[in-house]
Amino acid sequence: MPTVTTFPKSFASDNHAGVHPAVLAAIVEANTGDAPAYGADSWTRAMEDAFRAEFGDRATVYAMFNGTGANIVGLGLVLRPYDAVLCPATAHINTNECGAAERLLGTKLIPIPTENGKITVADIHDALSVLGNEHHSQPRVISISQVTECGTCYTPEEIAELAGFAHTRGLFLHMDGARLANAAAELGCPMRAITTDAGVDLLSFGGTKNGAMGAEAIVLLRPELDAPALFLRKQNMQLASKMRFVSAQLTALLTGGLWRENATHANAMAHRLADGIAGLPGVSLRHPVQSNAVFPVLPEKAIVELQRRYLFHVWDATENVVRWVTSFDTTADQVDTFTADVRLAVLGEADG
Ligand SMILES: Cc1ncc(COP(=O)(O)O)c(C=O)c1O
Repeated sequence: MPTVTTFPKSFASDNHAGVHPAVLAAIVEANTGDAPAYGADSWTRAMEDAFRAEFGDRATVYAMFNGTGANIVGLGLVLRPYDAVLCPATAHINTNECGAAERLLGTKLIPIPTENGKITVADIHDALSVLGNEHHSQPRVISISQVTECGTCYTPEEIAELAGFAHTRGLFLHMDGARLANAAAELGCPMRAITTDAGVDLLSFGGTKNGAMGAEAIVLLRPELDAPALFLRKQNMQLASKMRFVSAQLTALLTGGLWRENATHANAMAHRLADGIAGLPGVSLRHPVQSNAVFPVLPEKAIVELQRRYLFHVWDATENVVRWVTSFDTTADQVDTFTADVRLAVLGEADG
């Protein structure tokens, strides 16, 4: 047997969590006999039905292995060789995908500075002044993340405003929904209220952070985007041969509202964590808590002390901002133990 290293509850990422038992059970259930490959199987048909039930009859879905791939395939559907993507400077496509969009799509990303990871119509107005000017890459897509990389949520109205504006200027609205479930849970709305109904054109849907083993998807909310999707997915190495095992994971999350249960719990744990550190001297929140992430500013020595025992990332080393993320399986006890240790680390620091 190989040596296995396990950690106490990690607060570094919802990617550190395991797989939800219902997802594992769905994979086991799909492991029955043989089935056609590459999505020509009944688990994939069921998954497509589940997505239509959630996002509307016009939605088409293509399951993928990971979120970077979903973003690349999705954006690839709408970008011409001379196009650009407007996105918040903090966007995952801009900061954490190793230049995949630039290298694989040959596009230009135009990062927009934001306060809390959210862009507004006012923020992008100037960037559109180059439309029609052959000397400039042409903004073709506004890409937003819901939940944002700062843990904040766009309201349905804010998304609708961005979509309306994009459409009047001939642009598409892409949503990186790696944590879409957390946003819908926090806002108390169906997922379609912040996607289909708000005018989003294409969505990268996240399952992995919500309890899947590894299952993401692109959801196309405009039928005319559909035709090239099969080809681009294959060309970008996101087509699973044993697709049924990816599809079964997504269906498990979408069936019976498991996605909402998982996300609601993860968000509640983040709020509990934020409440537990409220009022500590020298501690503040960089961003409002609106999902399953907390971004506190901590005294530097407390960060060093806590990182001896816990896994989490320093988000901004110059300003001592850290990121704590909770997941579907984070327990209240784990949060309370962690919070107690944070208090000790911070108050010890204050005393010293
Ligand atoms: C906002 C966001 N988008 C996309 C991704 C997808 O990443 P991956 O390619 O690792 O699945 C992540 C993962 O952390 C993310 O946080």
